[in-house]
Amino acid sequence: MDTNAFFVLKLFVLGICATEDKRQQNQKPNVVICNETALMLDMSRCEDDFKRDMDLVDPKNWCNLTYYIKEYNTFSTCTEQNSERIGCFWPNPFVESFIISLHKHFFSNCTSDQVIWEDPPDNMLTILIVIPVLLTVVMIALVVWCSKRNDVMV
Ligand SMILES: *[C@@H]1O[C@H](CO)[C@@H](O)[C@H](O)[C@H]1NC(C)=O
Ligand SMILES: *[C@@H]1O[C@H](CO)[C@@H](O)[C@H](O)[C@H]1NC(C)=O
Ligand SMILES: *[C@@H]1O[C@H](CO)[C@@H](O)[C@H](O)[C@H]1NC(C)=O
Repeated sequence: MDTNAFFVLKLFVLGICATEDKRQQNQKPNVVICNETALMLDMSRCEDDFKRDMDLVDPKNWCNLTYYIKEYNTFSTCTEQNSERIGCFWPNPFVESFIISLHKHFFSNCTSDQVIWEDPPDNMLTILIVIPVLLTVVMIALVVWCSKRNDVMV
């Protein structure tokens, strides 16, 4: 499997698991309330680190994930760990808008062709997109089929 695609998959899965974990923890009575002031401070610290790292990357390579995948991973981990430490969900709307503005800063001149579709269409990202779509279709088909079967049996 392509390492970048694998990395994205890992991020995706970790993100979901982390969110699920948080959700479960959130059901316990002693919840830490998300402190948005602290979150903002920590996020700008993550951003400063990422900007410092990106300064070392030639701007002409800013559209090529190969050159900064490690730095991006560090940044992503930074936002995640700090959000969780403060008691905020991750990803959360604040962190998402924060990451989007960071993307605008660095990747506004990159076409999505350059950023994501480096590989032939049979890569993991395609699979990641296709699987949920297929699952949805299958679930709908199953629901329809089950309800029809019930109709027949009743
Ligand atoms: C939120 O975090 C800020 C900065 O760390 C702190 O000054 C403030 O007291 C915190 N607020 C609450 C409600 O904990
Ligand atoms: C990104 O950089 C790597 C290493 O220099 C290179 O092999 C790859 O073709 C580049 N990808 C794009 C889309 O420019
Ligand atoms: C994007 O392109 C514009 C115009 O060419 C330039 O002024 C700007 O600095 C570029 N931004 C990035 C992040 O490379």
